[in-house]
Amino acid sequence: MIAIVAADSNWGIGLKNELLVRIPSDQKFFRETTIGKVVVMGRKTLESFPGKKPLADRINIVLTKNKDYAPEGVVVVHSIEELDEKLKNYNKDDVYLIGGASIYKQLIDKCDTALVTKIDKAYEADTYFPDLDSDENWELVGESEEQTYFDLIYYFRKYVKR
Ligand SMILES: NC(=O)c1ccc[n+]([C@@H]2O[C@H](COP(=O)([O-])OP(=O)(O)OC[C@H]3O[C@@H](n4cnc5c(N)ncnc54)[C@H](OP(=O)(O)O)[C@@H]3O)[C@@H](O)[C@H]2O)c1
Repeated sequence: MIAIVAADSNWGIGLKNELLVRIPSDQKFFRETTIGKVVVMGRKTLESFPGKKPLADRINIVLTKNKDYAPEGVVVVHSIEELDEKLKNYNKDDVYLIGGASIYKQLIDKCDTALVTKIDKAYEADTYFPDLDSDENWELVGESEEQTYFDLIYYFRKYVKR
């Protein structure tokens, strides 16, 4: 399983159930990377999407404890165990963990790769991705050239589990 995330300089990822910032080329990267694949997310992340609609052209698996939750176009699972069972149907390299914070926290140990868009700015945030730079289990193996969007500087980074 591969985690994909956009994180700020403090590993912040969201505020009030929204993204900290939208960077078009990062959104393009996210779309191109996950298209045709399986995306795993928490219920709050699904509800943060426009119209609370699942992502097109991807298998959307959503975690919730609510047994009555059944939005259209979504595969619902109610526990990590149920998710593990469901993921047996797919190649692990085709499964992307797309958030939010609670899902990253619970499932980062099951990932072998993390694709991190690292934004060189500290936003006000209330949700965070685990700090892979201070986790000895993770190694930064690749970083893009400096990218810019107006006054923002960011990098596409790849981390792998040691
Ligand atoms: N920067 C990025 O790349 C990025 C990516 C994704 C999300 N985000 C941001 O992250 C924030 C949302 O993160 P979040 O942590 O608040 O919410 P979340 O992880 O998206 O969703 C949390 C919900 O998932 C369900 N859940 C979690 N663990 C579960 C388990 N073990 N079994 C069953 N259900 C489980 C629960 O749903 P129920 O309450 O229905 O039971 C829980 O309330 C937003 O601000 C969003 O914009 C940022």
